[in-house]
Amino acid sequence: MAETLTKLAYQALQQGRAVAGVAHKDMSTRLMKLLIPQGAPSVRQVDAELLQELQAAQSALLEVDWHDAEEGLYPTGLLFDAPWLDWATRYPLLWLDLPSTWSRRGEGRVKDLPAEVRREEYPDYYLQNFHHQSDGYLSDHSASLYDLQVEILFNGAADAMRRRVIRPLLEGLRAFSGRSAGQLRVLDVATGTGRTLQQLRGALPHAQLVGLDLSRAYLRQASRWLSRQPGSLPQLLQGNAEALPFADGSMQAVTCVFLLHELPAEARQNVLNECHRVLEPGGVLVLADSVQLADSPQFEPLMDNFRRSFHEPYYRGYIGDDIDARLATAGFTSITAASHLMTRVWRGTKAR
Ligand SMILES: C[S@@+](CC[C@H](N)C(=O)[O-])C[C@H]1O[C@@H](n2cnc3c(N)ncnc32)[C@H](O)[C@@H]1O
Repeated sequence: MAETLTKLAYQALQQGRAVAGVAHKDMSTRLMKLLIPQGAPSVRQVDAELLQELQAAQSALLEVDWHDAEEGLYPTGLLFDAPWLDWATRYPLLWLDLPSTWSRRGEGRVKDLPAEVRREEYPDYYLQNFHHQSDGYLSDHSASLYDLQVEILFNGAADAMRRRVIRPLLEGLRAFSGRSAGQLRVLDVATGTGRTLQQLRGALPHAQLVGLDLSRAYLRQASRWLSRQPGSLPQLLQGNAEALPFADGSMQAVTCVFLLHELPAEARQNVLNECHRVLEPGGVLVLADSVQLADSPQFEPLMDNFRRSFHEPYYRGYIGDDIDARLATAGFTSITAASHLMTRVWRGTKAR
């Protein structure tokens, strides 16, 4: 009985999140067309059949999410976990930020970054306003709005998609079943504001978790948010995923969520090579990123609209890229993949 009620509560919460996301996008699009018509992207019409497919994929995702929690892969509490109060107080800031986002998009300004950014510290491809967001990834302001922006973009399903890395991760870690949880080191590459680490901490409360990102501001946000929650604070490091500051074979698992589509092809391969290098033989890499044309052709109009609406300079290349082949090139074996709503999750193993 209690389980049924919790499941109903979860479904109701997710429905509420979806309605809020759709309503926000609808209102903001209307306002944009009124105030800054040149800022409105030309997007393709999405027909009723596609919307139904999307709905079905969303329901399937929530079902899997519930099922994995019920099976004990992570606590049910994670399904309800979000910084609600924080988001409520930041929501007005999101609206205040929108006009500058629209005008940047209208004027095609994609390298509008804070003057104090030390450009020499970052690869060129990074120095852009991904998603047209203010300051790119390079300010506390941007970091403070990011989670809310992603929440709205995915209609509240972002964490449910991130949690899809947990099952393949736990399965992969069985290779080290002779070790205690505290001896397992799990690295989250491009950890951003720490939402994935928060999910991993729920599933692996005693493992040594490490998060790496290029953005100091995003890491500060991750530290603020993660330290407010129970559990030990993961180690957070600034660095480039193309040159991970870790010794060969020093991790038993690596995760990487929503990074690959923001990288040029060469950097994508470099990151996978580095993930392979830092894994101990037998270790597992779990990647999550956008679905692609080959596995989800029915969602092609949505992928196209994403590219049209947000500054995502490498997305078109990414959705046609062969990630399985890249994983094999990096040295991974036993490669598997599965799609969950708009996210594809790959698992690869470093051979012993
Ligand atoms: C779309 S966000 C995803 C963040 C997080 N994984 C999540 O699930 O929300 C992409 C992240 O990748 C980081 N990033 C981009 N290029 C990177 C690189 N070469 N090395 C490390 N981090 C990078 C950005 O700073 C940003 O935090």
